[in-house]
Amino acid sequence: MSMRIAIVRNGKELGERAFLEIKKVLAAKRDAVIGFATGNTPIPLYEKMADDHKKNGTSYKRVRAFNLDEYVGVDPNDKASFARFMRDNLFSKIDIDPANTDIPNGMADDLSAECERYAAAVKKHPADIQILGIGENGHIAFNEPYTKPEEPTHIALLTESTRAANAGAFKDPSLVPQYALTMGINEILTAKRILMLATGEKKAQAVYDMIMGRDDTSCPATALRRHPDVTVILDKEAAALLTFGEWEREAERRAAEEAADAAEAEIKDEEAEDAEK
Ligand code: F6R
Repeated sequence: MSMRIAIVRNGKELGERAFLEIKKVLAAKRDAVIGFATGNTPIPLYEKMADDHKKNGTSYKRVRAFNLDEYVGVDPNDKASFARFMRDNLFSKIDIDPANTDIPNGMADDLSAECERYAAAVKKHPADIQILGIGENGHIAFNEPYTKPEEPTHIALLTESTRAANAGAFKDPSLVPQYALTMGINEILTAKRILMLATGEKKAQAVYDMIMGRDDTSCPATALRRHPDVTVILDKEAAALLTFGEWEREAERRAAEEAADAAEAEIKDEEAEDAEK
């Protein structure tokens, strides 16, 4: 597992810290593929990107954008849609070519065919960096607990907690769709780098589970432990349950176990050598 964790003081710092990761990618590759997430958490990053574009002219002309997910049955012009969210919060404020932006089409007549189209597009253009948020229940994209990691882009049934958390964008909580199209977990892991952002005390348990909890599909975000390059940016509230002492003790315990195994293997080798003599 290679997870770097940065703890910041506020949204502004989160935006700036996260932007450093995006800038690194763009500096190395002007035609980078960037995987975007919607939701409240990445807004300070998108504000920073828009601001930097205006002030410094950082260009996204050759960038290709993919989004993680979209509601089923919500028109892309509807304010509640993720397509509209991306246009309003970022794409209209930078020089990205709309033709280079892709998001699952939740209005497609044939949703399965749309999932297949999207899975193929993501496979063809693996992300150089994937921005992620985390759900209160540990979901990444709309991969809710117990989703099979190998499921490619699929139709997901949203949990009640996810629908409640996302109700703000709808006139009435009952209008939050039951279904969404979402990129799958292993598809997300094909990104070269992952940038996971989480803020607020409501995310503290999910963040703890992602980093220190049992490694199973009850918390989909634990899948990130299998990725070689993950940067996690948290505010203090989201990091509140991380007990670094416990973490260090666990690392020491593992190191002691490895040393004991190595010593045992050495003794066995010596015994084998003695037996040969
Ligand atoms: C959004 C997405 C979701 C959100 C998560 C956190 O595209 O895939 O997984 O990242 O629900 O949402 P916020 O940031 O609103 O707390």
